[in-house]
Amino acid sequence: MRAIVVIKYGPVEVLEFQEVEKPLIEDNEILVQVQAFSVNPVDWKVRRGEVKLLTGRKPPKILGADYSGVVTEVGKQVTSYKIGDGVFGFVNAFKGGTYAEFVKVKEEETCLKPENLSFEEASSLPVVTVTACQSLVRLGRLRQGGHVMINGCSGGVGLSGVQIAKTLGCEVTGVCSTKNLAVVKKMGVDHVIDYTKEDILTDKEAYDIFFDAVANKSFFHVKETINSGGTYVTTIPSFQTIVLAPLINVFSSKKIKHIMIVPSKESAKDLATIKEMAEKGKLAPVIEEVYPIEQIQEAHTHSETGRVVGKIVVRGFAN
Ligand SMILES: NC(=O)c1ccc[n+]([C@@H]2O[C@H](COP(=O)([O-])OP(=O)(O)OC[C@H]3O[C@@H](n4cnc5c(N)ncnc54)[C@H](OP(=O)(O)O)[C@@H]3O)[C@@H](O)[C@H]2O)c1
Repeated sequence: MRAIVVIKYGPVEVLEFQEVEKPLIEDNEILVQVQAFSVNPVDWKVRRGEVKLLTGRKPPKILGADYSGVVTEVGKQVTSYKIGDGVFGFVNAFKGGTYAEFVKVKEEETCLKPENLSFEEASSLPVVTVTACQSLVRLGRLRQGGHVMINGCSGGVGLSGVQIAKTLGCEVTGVCSTKNLAVVKKMGVDHVIDYTKEDILTDKEAYDIFFDAVANKSFFHVKETINSGGTYVTTIPSFQTIVLAPLINVFSSKKIKHIMIVPSKESAKDLATIKEMAEKGKLAPVIEEVYPIEQIQEAHTHSETGRVVGKIVVRGFAN
């Protein structure tokens, strides 16, 4: 099959097109012909060798976490999917695999694609929506009527968080730069703070959750803005969230947590919730640009700017 292969860590030029072996499925797996995948920041962090603790001395041969595509083979034990079904989901980003013509996934870790979305739209959702859903609902225990702050509300994770929090009937304060004020208001943010002009930490004891989607503020930096009983959740683990968190979470009324999503039965349940929200019109994909697969290097360079609004999607080899 055709794939985008990475032989060594490095700049975008290490992304090469090659012919590789098609994956062989196990009895509990399905083979998906990838119609579209999205680029997440973790893809280029892996490519650059920034997460070698998790990826090892050599990069995974094929990058990519998000996918949407068509089932072309089913394992002997698979009962929920048949050949021809449209599915969407994510694989472990540190192992990769979706920048290819086919990817194999476990039956229990995938989900039928939302019926009202194209493959390109569906591929933009899994990683960012599951991250936002688990951060706000599972870790932050966000309830109807709560007040959530989303730092980085114009990115892929941020805009997913905004839509999930609004669906739960929450008040949302979001942080972004001047150019994105209109789009985040349109997506439902109630109060917008422009980080280029305002201090984002002036409101004290205001938030039930401080969701640091862009991960550039520490717990100690923002804790005065969080209610007693509230939670700080960040998308990047740190010394504070790994080593200090167990102590802080015992002695402080304000909790500190980080999210690290992995494909699992639990994340597939979240995908099913996302599918339902999309089909009911409560969650819409926001895609800044769709690239043809030949422009994978441009797609990475675009994501690496850190300025993307919503998502970047790449059309699969099948298209
Ligand atoms: N732990 C996990 O399981 C997990 C899962 C998914 C993502 N992540 C991580 O979460 C982070 C966000 O991911 P993403 O997909 O949302 O990234 P992204 O889409 O690339 O984020 C881009 C957005 O960040 C905003 N931004 C940049 N600097 C900012 C600042 N100083 N303050 C506020 N907003 C700022 C930009 O808006 P402006 O142009 O307006 O600044 C832009 O809209 C990444 O580091 C990613 O690796 C972790």
